[in-house]
Amino acid sequence: MNYPFWNIPYLGSGWVIGIIAIFHVMISQFAVGGGLYLPLAERKAMRMADKQMGAEWLKQLARHSKFFLILTAVFGTVSGVGIWFAIGLTNPEATSTLIHNFVFGWAMEWVFFMIELATVAVYYYTWDRIDPKLHLKVGWVYAGASIATLVIINGILTFMLTPGDTWLAVAGTGHEASKFWNAFFNPTYWPSLFLRACVCASLAGIWALITSSHIDGDKHPALKTSLVQWSVKWLVPSFVAIPFLMIWYLMMVPESQRALLSLGIDTIGAGTFSIITRIALVIIVTSATIVGVAYYLAYRNPVEFNLSHAMAVLLLALIATGSGEYAREMLRKPYVIGRWMYSNGVRVPYVARINQEGYLVHSEWVWNSSTSSYSRGEAIFRGECGSCHTLSGYRPLKTLLAGRDQANIGSFITMLHDYKPDSPYRRFMPPMVGTKQDVDDLTNYLNAQVNPPAPAKVLTAQK
Ligand code: HEC
Repeated sequence: MNYPFWNIPYLGSGWVIGIIAIFHVMISQFAVGGGLYLPLAERKAMRMADKQMGAEWLKQLARHSKFFLILTAVFGTVSGVGIWFAIGLTNPEATSTLIHNFVFGWAMEWVFFMIELATVAVYYYTWDRIDPKLHLKVGWVYAGASIATLVIINGILTFMLTPGDTWLAVAGTGHEASKFWNAFFNPTYWPSLFLRACVCASLAGIWALITSSHIDGDKHPALKTSLVQWSVKWLVPSFVAIPFLMIWYLMMVPESQRALLSLGIDTIGAGTFSIITRIALVIIVTSATIVGVAYYLAYRNPVEFNLSHAMAVLLLALIATGSGEYAREMLRKPYVIGRWMYSNGVRVPYVARINQEGYLVHSEWVWNSSTSSYSRGEAIFRGECGSCHTLSGYRPLKTLLAGRDQANIGSFITMLHDYKPDSPYRRFMPPMVGTKQDVDDLTNYLNAQVNPPAPAKVLTAQK
């Protein structure tokens, strides 16, 4: 363990990333989709034969762009920085690997992000102040820059699931960065880019529905109808293309990593381990409901479409986005970087060495000869299991191990340590690495949690 552990009781540090990331993904994907929505809508308004209607559209777009500016530039930026804090603390090894490989990618990302921030501000503040054609051009620059941020970050995100054989061949040699482009355009790059692009378009439509739901349908029925119906159309690409893109995406994930998914499907009847299957069902049900609400409440009855309808669509989209990101995380287990680094930061090729040297030899802040087996066990639990488990709370080991005695817990840990090729746990858990002493220390610690030593009253009873 090369870094200290960031302990978040009950929730687990992974969820700190998860919560910030889901919020950030919702906003940043809207920034991309909305970046295209604004100039396209503006161009459409400028070309309208009905000049009166065109002017009303532009007024509405100016209002929408204020909301857009605040949401993306304030909340998008803050949550983006939040992700950096959270990943650096939660998974320093993986963050370090990403930085070492993609520092240039991130530099590009930030350049485009700066352009995005500057142009969105100019776009908002110059409505009616500069020549309309120039204003539209600012909108296009914004759209281009925000699409570029997706194109770049998608390479880094998909790398973590499928680094690809070329990069894996040089991983650990110090020459990883020479395979930058192979790592970037990795096997899931394209399906994921198109998937995310569809989601971006849908989110642009959904957020535009929120602002258009404010329009008074009695006073401006024609304006509201045209805007609501045009916004609903932004959801169409998703519903046509996403099922096919999902299949393409899954096909690009190596068979060994897909095991968890097939496990979920195999056991759909038995229900033993069907988290992924359940999530897939949630995504299907929420998406189908979004289609229903968007078609019947928005497209068919645009004048009566109100804020609570729009919020319902947004909430469903939030659930679908969250479930999608969670499913992607589950698919990646037991790795944080596919086939190279386990979720707990242990590099796959280092396992044998750690088994020989011991897990805590390089952990200056825990290791000294006077440390008890219990506190070494605690450090091992945090380092090796804490990225996915808490003691009590999310995936609680106290509950998962309940009913087992010390010997039983010991044989479970040993099984996880031996990591036989046919072990079912390989599909979602990394091996427990370390020496025999480490196995015993972890067993002692976990046993003390699951079967706490009898309290004082037993002693009195014995007296
Ligand atoms: C990559 C994430 C990950 C890591 C790291 C991890 N686990 Fe797990 N573990 C899981 C998942 C996922 C499950 C299934 C959870 C469920 O069924 O709710 C699981 C289940 C378990 C179970 C229940 C098994 C059963 O058959 O019911 C035990 C016990 C367990 N883990 C112990 C550990 C220990 C001890 C460590 C550290 C040495 C560890 N895990 C590390 C992801 C992980």
